[in-house]
Amino acid sequence: SERQDGRPFRQRLLVVANRLPVSAVRRGEDSWSLEMSAGGLVTALLGVKEFEARWIGWAGVNVPDEIGQRALTKALAEKRCIPVFLDEDIVHQYYNGYCNNILWPLFHYLGLPQEDRLATTRSFQSQFAAYKKANQMFADVVNKHYEEDDVVWCHDYHLMFLPKCLKEYNRNMKVGWFLHTPFPSSEIHRTLPSRSELLRSVLAADLVGFHTYDYARHFVSACTRILGLEGTPEGVEDQGRLTRVAAFPIGIDADRFRRALETQDVQKHIKELKDRFAGRKVMLGVDRLDMIKGIPQKILAFEKFLEENRDWHDKVVLLQIAVPTRTDVPEYQKLTSQVHEIVGRINGRFGTLTAVPIHHLDRSLDFYKLCALYAVTDVALVTSLRDGMNLVSYEFVACQDSKKGVLILSEFAGAAQSLGAGAILINPWNITEVAASIAQALNMPAEEREKRHQHNFNHVTRHTAQEWAETFVSELNDTVVETQLRTRQ
Ligand code: ADP
Ligand code: G6P
Repeated sequence: SERQDGRPFRQRLLVVANRLPVSAVRRGEDSWSLEMSAGGLVTALLGVKEFEARWIGWAGVNVPDEIGQRALTKALAEKRCIPVFLDEDIVHQYYNGYCNNILWPLFHYLGLPQEDRLATTRSFQSQFAAYKKANQMFADVVNKHYEEDDVVWCHDYHLMFLPKCLKEYNRNMKVGWFLHTPFPSSEIHRTLPSRSELLRSVLAADLVGFHTYDYARHFVSACTRILGLEGTPEGVEDQGRLTRVAAFPIGIDADRFRRALETQDVQKHIKELKDRFAGRKVMLGVDRLDMIKGIPQKILAFEKFLEENRDWHDKVVLLQIAVPTRTDVPEYQKLTSQVHEIVGRINGRFGTLTAVPIHHLDRSLDFYKLCALYAVTDVALVTSLRDGMNLVSYEFVACQDSKKGVLILSEFAGAAQSLGAGAILINPWNITEVAASIAQALNMPAEEREKRHQHNFNHVTRHTAQEWAETFVSELNDTVVETQLRTRQ
């Protein structure tokens, strides 16, 4: 389509997410450096190119002073990012508290931490108040930068209250909301004290999207059972107003990985890794150090595999790259020590003077090193206990075209629905099954590996982040028209 002046129309998008694609590190009173943030949301959004997009979000730091805020706003503007400044107390109650201690575990079927349950219940009200306040602060920034015909795309569990705040500012704003985590069964959602208020706020959006059909169905069930509204094949209806609900499976920018593999940088890393692990098969885990990723379960399954397969002892190595995340939340601190303890025990048990079976790194790898690692891997292990989609599995597949390695994938990751036919699907809680799958993967004949890889490779290269965003935004545009028509009737 074209504008009246003949220039092609590029949809202007305001992308609102708690986490900006870059996080800021302070270097001086008014100087900042920006680093890429980790996580699937950022990875996918970076693959979205064909829009005039601006990002609104939190830069991951507390900036109490005006000089610092002004300087950071300027530095971020070069990246088309607009910061929302959250003070320490809000971050503590909204981000560490309500988002990551309540919603995140709940949406991943982990419930609330047992020993904290009473304390959590007591602080629940103030955390929910901070959550709403933070969402209102995001809404204020969006409203300030909104221009007519913009489309506002809100992301994730941090911002479930945002669609309502935005519509209160301007009923005609086109507002979409997409959840990057699972949406749990309505029986889980209904335990949340603020269950109804959150659902109603999300329903203020024109389009609500999830990774899979199951998550969308759970959401609609929550609205019908908890709010008593009507669920239709299109979405949820409330007094004649329809909120469209649908599945939009996310993808990655596969070309970015394929191009990187051809660079000298990556080729150099590949050579180093091949030399380093010559004579051993490489197994790989790449995760944020999060309890939903099933890292202890993965390592225990690898231990069981070693116990049962003595022949493999000096022929296989597990590289577990786990970037620390949400380190102020006690549950994450406990997980870090637990993982270190298990790795130490297994390396003590099976290591030799010259080699250990597990290399565990608590850090983020730069993009080129990560691509090289994916490329030399024989077996990737994704053992999430629940995971919205899991893009690590997609990235591994994109980098494996010459090697055709095997993906072991949890059936509780959204990706199991798209890569299930090519991967070996496992229940991460069943350590015996995972250990047997490791043996199956390491011994798999080339022909079968090739067939499985091809299936996954076709999916990952065809269903990209770009396609995901285009589908969502075009449906959002259509939906608003439909909604307006309905209101006029
Ligand atoms: P989540 O969004 O829960 O973190 P995903 O698997 O969907 O899970 O996305 C994780 C993203 O973060 C991927 O793009 C992956 O490359 C990146 N990532 C995760 N761990 C690391 C790490 N240790 N080093 C570099 N990147 C990482
Ligand atoms: C998941 C969430 C994202 C989040 C990312 C990293 O992918 O769905 O919203 O940005 O994890 O977590 P963090 O708390 O560091 O933003």
